Amino acid sequence: MELRHLRYFVAVAEEKSFNKAAKRLYISQPPLSRQIKQLEDEIGVTLIDREHRPLKLTEAGDFFYEHAIQILAKSDKLRAMTVRKGSFDSSISIGFVPSILYGLLPKIISCFREVYPNIEIKLQELNSWQQTQALTDGKIDVGFGRLLFEDASIRRILLREESLVVAIPKNHYLAQEGLATINLMDLANENLLLYPTGPRPSFIDYVLELFESRNLKANYFAEVRELHIALGLVAAGEGLTIVPKTLEHLRSQEVNYIPFEDGLLTSPIIMSVRHFDKSDLLKTLLEVTYQFYDKEGFDYKREYI
Ligand code: BEZ
Repeated sequence: MELRHLRYFVAVAEEKSFNKAAKRLYISQPPLSRQIKQLEDEIGVTLIDREHRPLKLTEAGDFFYEHAIQILAKSDKLRAMTVRKGSFDSSISIGFVPSILYGLLPKIISCFREVYPNIEIKLQELNSWQQTQALTDGKIDVGFGRLLFEDASIRRILLREESLVVAIPKNHYLAQEGLATINLMDLANENLLLYPTGPRPSFIDYVLELFESRNLKANYFAEVRELHIALGLVAAGEGLTIVPKTLEHLRSQEVNYIPFEDGLLTSPIIMSVRHFDKSDLLKTLLEVTYQFYDKEGFDYKREYI
């Protein structure tokens, strides 16, 4: 059985007609019918009820169809990922979530550039879920994100857990109390500005889960499109928000940042790469990141590509 057989079968199954499927595949009908018959003979099972109009799959055909589309999708992914790998030496395409751009990413990129002065570096803002898709479509080579999405073809490297802090307007009573730390419970009845609105799941869902996992509920929260809008509204005195610690230099004239008492309130920074991609570029990028961590004294567990 070859991939060609699967493609032919899927076309017939979806078009419910040999004639339409042949047109879709740009071949004539007799060879298409022969190939499907060959497939059925090889596996010894009838997949298509030819008496039925429009054509209908047998029960075994339905089963075969569900698996065939998965195998074809995997083979398309493999092709796209390999094409990308082939052009990888002279360029690297990096996906990132916005909050990471305000942290170490710029420093890491410029240090990486010193090692590879002639490389083309493409940066694309993508949320964690979009990064998974872009990796399997061969559109990026590495992603830096904050949420975990399981995909068998992607390897996740947990770089570190970054502490979260609460952004509070300077004139807010919680800021004026001069608190050194704050609890999630203190925020349950505050107007929380959570971001980004889409695509979901996003950091909004991560923060709401932090509440839920502590048997708390964010009673008053509004969803805003992105991090900058949340911080702008905090500066305007319209509410509070939660951000990763590396952002605490933003809008510092109008906003106070208070760490959580519970040191476990963190957001992971995750590097995603295609499984089995052991390119020198990725190894260097990871190594440069760890060098910064050593310099900054961050806690991390070293992994290798
Ligand atoms: C970090 O802040 O830990 C980080 C940011 C971007 C890429 C890698 C690590």
